[in-house]
Amino acid sequence: MVSRVIPAQPFDLVIFGGTGDLARRKILPALFRRYCAGQMDRDARIIGAARGDMDDAAYRDFARAAIDEFDDDAVCAAEHLETFLSQLSYVTLDARGDDGWAALKDRLDGSERIRAFYFSVGPALFGDLATRIEAHGLATPEARIVVEKPFGRDLASARALNAELAKHFKETQIYRIDHYLGKETVQNLMAIRFGNTLFEPLWNSQYVDHIQITVAESGGVGTRGGYYDKSGAMRDMMQNHIMQLLCLTTMEPPAKYDPHAVRDEKLKVIRALSPVEPGDVVRGQYEGTDRLPGYRNEVENCDTLTESFVAIKARICNWRWAGTPFYLRTGKRLRARASEIAIVFKDAPHSIFGAAAGRHRNILTIRLQPNEGIEMGVTIKEPGPGGMRLVDVPLDMTFSEALGPEAADIPDAYERLIMDVIRGDQTLFMRGDEVEAAWEWTDPIIDAWEASGAAPLRYATGSSGPDDALALMHRDGRSWREIRP
Ligand code: BG6
Repeated sequence: MVSRVIPAQPFDLVIFGGTGDLARRKILPALFRRYCAGQMDRDARIIGAARGDMDDAAYRDFARAAIDEFDDDAVCAAEHLETFLSQLSYVTLDARGDDGWAALKDRLDGSERIRAFYFSVGPALFGDLATRIEAHGLATPEARIVVEKPFGRDLASARALNAELAKHFKETQIYRIDHYLGKETVQNLMAIRFGNTLFEPLWNSQYVDHIQITVAESGGVGTRGGYYDKSGAMRDMMQNHIMQLLCLTTMEPPAKYDPHAVRDEKLKVIRALSPVEPGDVVRGQYEGTDRLPGYRNEVENCDTLTESFVAIKARICNWRWAGTPFYLRTGKRLRARASEIAIVFKDAPHSIFGAAAGRHRNILTIRLQPNEGIEMGVTIKEPGPGGMRLVDVPLDMTFSEALGPEAADIPDAYERLIMDVIRGDQTLFMRGDEVEAAWEWTDPIIDAWEASGAAPLRYATGSSGPDDALALMHRDGRSWREIRP
């Protein structure tokens, strides 16, 4: 398989929060990998900006250490590292004051090339940064800003944030990241649905029994307890990542693969979601083991009501999906790190093989991680004499097996997304109205929990979540797929 890498135009990328955790773990290693792949122009300039005092040499050391720790790709030869680092520099800057902005302007030296500002900071600073970028004359027509989640914590705060950014930038200049959209398999979902004629005629309530989406993590909240305990699984994962997976799985075919068409269709899905009944939501909190702390200990809040697990039965009220349930679940400290979308088709209307042949259904599984790939479960005859016995087998397309070893080297979501920012392609970024619509659906669920004051159900570390989440499907005569690595 030959991959085609198209070099991006020369650009300047300013990373606010340039010494933060995201820059260290994701942004700098992602840029280095794109550099090694020949996609980053040799004239590109990356400028870290943060409050701390540091010179260019110290920032390069910081980046070198980050790449050593977080880039495990052997293809990125050490020989590239020093030239990559020479394109990095650092500016000490105050987001809430004017210190450092003149120095940043000097670094950008009035050039008219593509200029991206990555807000790798908390949302409380978004407004300050946007105001100062404009006030210091840095907001050229080619400028764009990249903002990370959480984009608000409810509809009101998301609206306020959108309004604040809109004072300084046009919507076409704002790139709201949801890193799930940068995952290779998530984009493949669109390729499968809209690049094949096979599936689309069956992709509706007439043929699909239900769809289940699981994003399971085996790790706990770790060192992020402070942030997580104010968010919970609903705000951290459901409102954004799982919502985006649901949209891409269920949207109508856009007329074109372009930012407006794709995002228009996603928005229609979110707006068609019906309010969730209280009995259709289960939330949980993990317990500890001999070796691992429970959620409450980990976040150091002994009576917290924040959930580390949520399962929802959702409904989309439109012609395509009326009557089809969507079971969505996500949680931490579950049996394995395993994420998938499973399209479970209905039983054949009549079995010519009789009851003895048992029940068989087709399931199309899109595995996000690990072992990215697609699997179609089909029913065949069990080989050998002795009557017609049916057996379900997978038609497996694990990308690394089907496309060669190169395909096993799947780029990190950030690599794709950062280069899309430079290319000016907003297709895989959330539009302001989408984010607001997602909060509009999420808010009443969270409000109802807060009003009830009820504690989330406990579940054991290494389990599939609370028993009630299993019951959510069992009562409909269905069951979750096993969470397995
Ligand atoms: C982040 C959440 O957005 O996604 C984390 O804040 C979560 O809590 C992470 O662990 C999961 O991402 P991935 O790519 O590892 O599935």
